[in-house]
Amino acid sequence: MASSQRTDVRPEHQLYHEYTTDVDQARTNVHYEQPPEFFLLITGGEWNVYSANLWDPGTEDDTASQQAKLDLIARLAGLEKGMHLIDVGCGWAGPLTYLCDTYGLTGTGLTLSPTQKGYAEERIARRGTDAKIVLSHWEDYTPPEQVDAIYTDEVIVHFFNLGGFFTKCHDWLKPGGVMINKELHLKHPRHAKLDRGGEFVSQIYGDTGNYRTLAEETRLANDAGFDIERVHHIERRHYETTIDHWLANMHKHAGELKAMVGDQHYRDFRVYLRLARHIQRNVTLDVVVCRRFD
Ligand SMILES: C[S@@+](CC[C@H](N)C(=O)[O-])C[C@H]1O[C@@H](n2cnc3c(N)ncnc32)[C@H](O)[C@@H]1O
Repeated sequence: MASSQRTDVRPEHQLYHEYTTDVDQARTNVHYEQPPEFFLLITGGEWNVYSANLWDPGTEDDTASQQAKLDLIARLAGLEKGMHLIDVGCGWAGPLTYLCDTYGLTGTGLTLSPTQKGYAEERIARRGTDAKIVLSHWEDYTPPEQVDAIYTDEVIVHFFNLGGFFTKCHDWLKPGGVMINKELHLKHPRHAKLDRGGEFVSQIYGDTGNYRTLAEETRLANDAGFDIERVHHIERRHYETTIDHWLANMHKHAGELKAMVGDQHYRDFRVYLRLARHIQRNVTLDVVVCRRFD
């Protein structure tokens, strides 16, 4: 990756660290192995989506905003009854469950976090959803058969070897299958240089953030053999409103959250969310729809 070879950035201020899959898992889980209830209260709504949602006029509540985003994904990917969807980085499986139940899909969710997997399986059992959860790094996973669609939502930022991931996805998909990735993209490579706020956010994720430009992401997808079918831009206000709702949920549930993770972590998480809101000025949020060509 071109960005990993930059020489003008001090190593500790640089994004892009290559780890073994075990170290990657341990570092990523610094964030995701916190109690599910902590994230469920913050993200709110029925689907506990831990990524930007859509807030068009009239959308007031968390559930409606989460469903609006997931319906957009379904529309852009052309999801239809009977398809098999892999959600790489499925969180607590709210998005996978909603998509499978609403669009008649079979689902597979991948996560690195045993705690997320446990909660996700409970949700699937509770709803009787046609889905299963696999605890695996994408590098170690191979589906039993090729699938119709692959979805990631604010997940590929964790992947150092994004080109390797896209190559895997190409193999996992049936010919003509769709890969849809929603992610933040740097407006310019210069924003990869971390200031103090950026370092704080990076540490929250165990320094597993590999932010890229949209151009780099689409080039890597092309290199893996994908056609770029469509790029859908999501306006910045949607992420800002999502974060505002997460902060309001934190405030509303302050007592319970502090009892779960302690005062210091509660405070750090609020700082992280405020910084993440501020960082939006240097990034765009885009959904990239790629198709396996052959
Ligand atoms: C920001 S959360 C997004 C969750 C979900 N996509 C959503 O929108 O609610 C990132 C997710 O990616 C998963 N993840 C991170 N690195 C991964 C990897 N190398 N392989 C599989 N999953 C990974 C994390 O465990 C977590 O579930």
